Amino acid sequence: MFPNEMHILQQLAVLVVCRSLATGQISSRYFFTQEPMPWVKGREYCQSHFVDLAVLSTEEEYSALLSAIPTNNASFWLGLHKQSSGWEWTDGEQLRLTHWYNYNHEGHCVSLEAMFEEKDKLLARYCNEQHRVVCQGPVSPQSVSVDFVNIDQVNLSWNISALMQTTSHYYNVTICSFICETLFYSYTNGSSLMSISISNLSAATEYFIYVSAVVIHLDHGTSRKWILQDSPIMFNAKTATSNKTQKKISSFWIYSVWLLVSSFWCIYHIVKKGKF
Ligand SMILES: *[C@@H]1O[C@H](CO)[C@@H](O)[C@H](O)[C@H]1NC(C)=O
Ligand SMILES: *[C@@H]1O[C@H](CO)[C@@H](O)[C@H](O)[C@H]1NC(C)=O
Ligand SMILES: *[C@@H]1O[C@H](CO)[C@@H](O)[C@H](O)[C@H]1NC(C)=O
Ligand SMILES: *[C@@H]1O[C@H](CO)[C@@H](O)[C@H](O)[C@H]1NC(C)=O
Ligand SMILES: *[C@@H]1O[C@H](CO)[C@@H](O)[C@H](O)[C@H]1NC(C)=O
Ligand SMILES: *[C@@H]1O[C@H](CO)[C@@H](O)[C@H](O)[C@H]1NC(C)=O
Ligand SMILES: *[C@@H]1O[C@H](CO)[C@@H](O)[C@H](O)[C@H]1NC(C)=O
Repeated sequence: MFPNEMHILQQLAVLVVCRSLATGQISSRYFFTQEPMPWVKGREYCQSHFVDLAVLSTEEEYSALLSAIPTNNASFWLGLHKQSSGWEWTDGEQLRLTHWYNYNHEGHCVSLEAMFEEKDKLLARYCNEQHRVVCQGPVSPQSVSVDFVNIDQVNLSWNISALMQTTSHYYNVTICSFICETLFYSYTNGSSLMSISISNLSAATEYFIYVSAVVIHLDHGTSRKWILQDSPIMFNAKTATSNKTQKKISSFWIYSVWLLVSSFWCIYHIVKKGKF
């Protein structure tokens, strides 16, 4: 009974503090330009403001892009072009989607045709034609592995996609128990795996951990920072139990009760105030 209530209270406390985390920052990964330009120019533009031209590895990403298109009256360059080995995304991955509307053998660059009714909207075109472009924002890891936990430390690792390996970026790791703390880790050039260790944690505590990819560009015109963050992957990890556990649990219990009492008091206060 007690551990169960503990668990619920703990979740409540986390919800109270982390509510803004769960709802905020959910932004699209795709950015559409207004200005038409040739494919190579479009790629340069996307690389200096985002990550690259849009790269669609999965059906889910293709559908997400279709539902984000701002107009059904334009063509948008994608990060897909013809190489000697065949149709390839700009991160070096082969094309696996089969959503061709049509392709000719002369056009070597691919656009997404928003005006086509069908779901198949890929069209090969001449690379020097001028079209609007879809840029790709950063992509958070798809899965994170909890490699090790002890009393006060958690080791995490995740794979870095071919796309994210092409750009210099950071990870925002936000770790929450009843308060949240954000740590930043920079991607090391050339590696395909990120491994981090978070220390100074409390024993026998369940932590909710959010990991998201962040890209920072400096806008040379205005010298303002341009920060793009993908929505996070969320998971939990529990630190190991120690002899001090009992003490920590009881202080946590008191804290949670206080939190609940204070919010009830708040509601009571509001209700009471409303009456008069
Ligand atoms: C880190 O990411 C969280 C969401 O996971 C967000 O709420 C927070 O604002 C980010 N922190 C910074 C400093 O960007
Ligand atoms: C579509 O674009 C063309 C020119 O690009 C324009 O003449 C036409 O009015 C547009 N149609 C709609 C419905 O926006
Ligand atoms: C990373 O990739 C390897 C090989 O593809 C896989 O075995 C492993 O489970 C992946 N790790 C994570 C955390 O996704
Ligand atoms: C990262 O590596 C690429 C090539 O692998 C290189 O062009 C680039 O300058 C490197 N960046 C940094 C910051 O070392
Ligand atoms: C956890 O990470 C720390 C710091 O990188 C390292 O010293 C330690 O060996 C790691 N523990 C395990 C079990 O991998
Ligand atoms: C852990 O906490 C101690 C004392 O609060 C501090 O001196 C130390 O630098 C911290 N270590 C890390 C890795 O944050
Ligand atoms: C933890 O408790 C065990 C017995 O329950 C005891 O033998 C051990 O010394 C304690 N460790 C510490 C660090 O207090």
